[in-house]
Amino acid sequence: MNPKNTIMPDTNSEADTVSMTTEGDGGEEDIPDLVPIEEQSRDEYFASYEDVEIHRLMVNDVPRTTAYRDAIYKNKHLFKDKIVMDVGAGTGILSLFMASAGAKKVYAVEASGMAQVIQQVARDNGFSDIIQVFHKRVEDIILPEEEKVDVIVSEWMGFYLLHESMLNSIIIARDTFLSDEGTVFPSEARIYAAPCSLKSLYSEQINFWDNVYGFNMNSVKQYALRSKMIKPEVCLVPEDDLLANPTCIKTFNLRWITEEELRLFTETTFIAIARAGNYQGLCLWFECDFDGRDYDEEGKEFGTVVTLSTAPSSPSTHWKQTVVVLGYISEPESAPSHNNDSQEIELTCNEGHPAPHSQDEGHSEACGNTSNINNGSDEGKQKSNEQNQTVETSNVEYGIYKDYKVDVDEVVGWKIALCQSDDNVRHYTMTVEMLDPEVEEHPMPCQCPMPRCLIISKMIEKEDMEADDDIIDCT
Ligand SMILES: C[S@@+](CC[C@H](N)C(=O)[O-])C[C@H]1O[C@@H](n2cnc3c(N)ncnc32)[C@H](O)[C@@H]1O
Ligand SMILES: [Zn+2]
Repeated sequence: MNPKNTIMPDTNSEADTVSMTTEGDGGEEDIPDLVPIEEQSRDEYFASYEDVEIHRLMVNDVPRTTAYRDAIYKNKHLFKDKIVMDVGAGTGILSLFMASAGAKKVYAVEASGMAQVIQQVARDNGFSDIIQVFHKRVEDIILPEEEKVDVIVSEWMGFYLLHESMLNSIIIARDTFLSDEGTVFPSEARIYAAPCSLKSLYSEQINFWDNVYGFNMNSVKQYALRSKMIKPEVCLVPEDDLLANPTCIKTFNLRWITEEELRLFTETTFIAIARAGNYQGLCLWFECDFDGRDYDEEGKEFGTVVTLSTAPSSPSTHWKQTVVVLGYISEPESAPSHNNDSQEIELTCNEGHPAPHSQDEGHSEACGNTSNINNGSDEGKQKSNEQNQTVETSNVEYGIYKDYKVDVDEVVGWKIALCQSDDNVRHYTMTVEMLDPEVEEHPMPCQCPMPRCLIISKMIEKEDMEADDDIIDCT
């Protein structure tokens, strides 16, 4: 991966940075020396980022990379003559954007071996004196004279936002290196959810077993569905398959969020169906805002907000969407009773260490199965992440799986919980529980159109309007 004859390790140096000799633009230059990354940091996670193909897939993800470019170029006031940090710089693409936007210093921090090419990339683009590479985990670097940075930019997002959980590292970098007035890009991240049908997944992978060369393979069909129910599907969900308007289940303000807030969150949602169909899954995705707006002395706004969306309605990205496949189990002869059979699925993303397969304990391994996510150019990154993903399930029993058809205005509900492991912050368990809207308590306020929720929403609306009327205009 290293460019031939260009990297000159200097283990005598105390500096944290990467140095390269050059036969390129400027000849000998006074640039920092390479200190190899500590062995303990070379874990499997960073090793996976030494596959340059993963970086090609990310850089080639046009909505992703142009969102960062636009956010930086359309908010140059944040970067011009500023000291900035690129956390997890990869190939250095975001560092190049920031240097091009006029940053006076870019600290490019990269723990994987990719760090070794960034300095040459900087040199090849005339930024060798601007971009300074740290080949370390951001948690381990020390800036000269405890310098603070004006902006931290990072692409830390994983599937359904939190898979990989690089966000903890961003929070540590922010609390250590960002100046009081500093900016974090992206500035806000939101997780969305919507009930969905999964027409192509069902027709291609589940209903396929209905008739196999004239034989009844219904048992294989049940097995296929069950295996889908116990792991998240990373796939593209057509917008038409969404059965309700998306609901935001979590907002992260990246300037202020704490590591504590990443440990656990739960959200209960009740929502009215907007499109009749088979309710087969819960579709999750995320959006990020880069808010660079500010005001000049005359109160005039400048800068802009750029949004990176991974919604089914947006151009597809390598994150696609994440789907929790639902199944409705009922005893033979009885009607499907989704309301009584609330289903709980645990999806555990366990970096680097697939759990042992154990049917007896109700656990199953779902690593390396990329059949559902092998859509074109995304495969490499998907593979790398999927192989690290183990899945546990509980309370899912064999039974007869029924369609659950929903009609417009029908209310459906679920509770989703994301819980970070105490031992490993990259390890999340997602629990999805289907809720009976007639029985379970609704949040307050609730967006669903059931009479009690409608009355409460109207009352809140009225109180808000009265409060607005009470505000005295002093202008
Ligand atoms: C999703 S990639 C983004 C790469 C690049 N910024 C881009 O936009 O193409 C995340 C990168 O962050 C690096 N990384 C993750 N955690 C890190 C940490 N704690 N310190 C330094 N680098 C880290 C990974 O090795 C990987 O190269
Ligand atoms: Zn409600």
